[in-house]
Amino acid sequence: MTKDIKKWWNEVSKSYQIDSKIRTKSAHYGPYSPDEKKLKLLGNVKGKKILEVGCGGGQCSIAFAKQGAKCTGLDLSKEQLKHAEELAKKEKVSVKFLKHDIQTLKGIKSKEYDIVFTAFALQYIPNLTKCFKEVHRVLKRNGLFVLSLDHPFFMVIDTKTNKIKRSYFKTGKIEEIDVWPDSSKHKFVIYRRKISDIFNSLTEAKFFVEKIIEPLSKNAKSWKWEEIYPKELVKLVGPTIIFKTKKK
Ligand SMILES: C[S@@+](CC[C@H](N)C(=O)[O-])C[C@H]1O[C@@H](n2cnc3c(N)ncnc32)[C@H](O)[C@@H]1O
Repeated sequence: MTKDIKKWWNEVSKSYQIDSKIRTKSAHYGPYSPDEKKLKLLGNVKGKKILEVGCGGGQCSIAFAKQGAKCTGLDLSKEQLKHAEELAKKEKVSVKFLKHDIQTLKGIKSKEYDIVFTAFALQYIPNLTKCFKEVHRVLKRNGLFVLSLDHPFFMVIDTKTNKIKRSYFKTGKIEEIDVWPDSSKHKFVIYRRKISDIFNSLTEAKFFVEKIIEPLSKNAKSWKWEEIYPKELVKLVGPTIIFKTKKK
């Protein structure tokens, strides 16, 4: 399955980067969420060793590096990493980018990082507990693990009718075929979970959950992907959920 996910991200990387226009001023947490500059979940990152898993185009890693962190960004997709490397060069910051699968951090030393960060990448991971145990291993004692994902409530709503389209309890793999404007077909794989699944995987991996944040998009302006995130709907159910956790 990871092969399909990798293929998908290599195929969509170019248009994703053009459309999403993610900024490098401060790390973002996802659609309609305040960024790290506002939420301040990580504290001062100057001199901190940060690992970003699922770094995509590298914008969050670059933001951390600009603030003085020693950052490593890791992603599965060579196209996403190509964008990340070019952007870091353009922004004149030093970030180490690695082509690596989040599911096993083999090759990364234990107790190496102060912070592990990830934004909107864990939807593609079949076994969260296994992945979280690896994150726990590479973190120093009391290290922070801060993650964002699409909000499980938002994902059960049909964005055209605002009605529930799928049971919240129907979790696991979802496979879809996307047809693009040029009529090409692309297989899309994603994993759905309940909030309790994410929470329980974190505690099973021995993380202490300090905070769960569900940002309210009160004054939501239209986004590029209005079909996926209609501006009236995001005022009712936020599309992003954030967990701030600590290694025990
Ligand atoms: C929605 S993008 C988010 C990227 C970035 N955090 C951002 O906000 O733009 C999801 C990213 O997760 C990466 N990804 C998916 N599965 C992965 C895996 N098993 N290991 C590493 N990266 C993975 C994809 O290649 C993609 O770049």
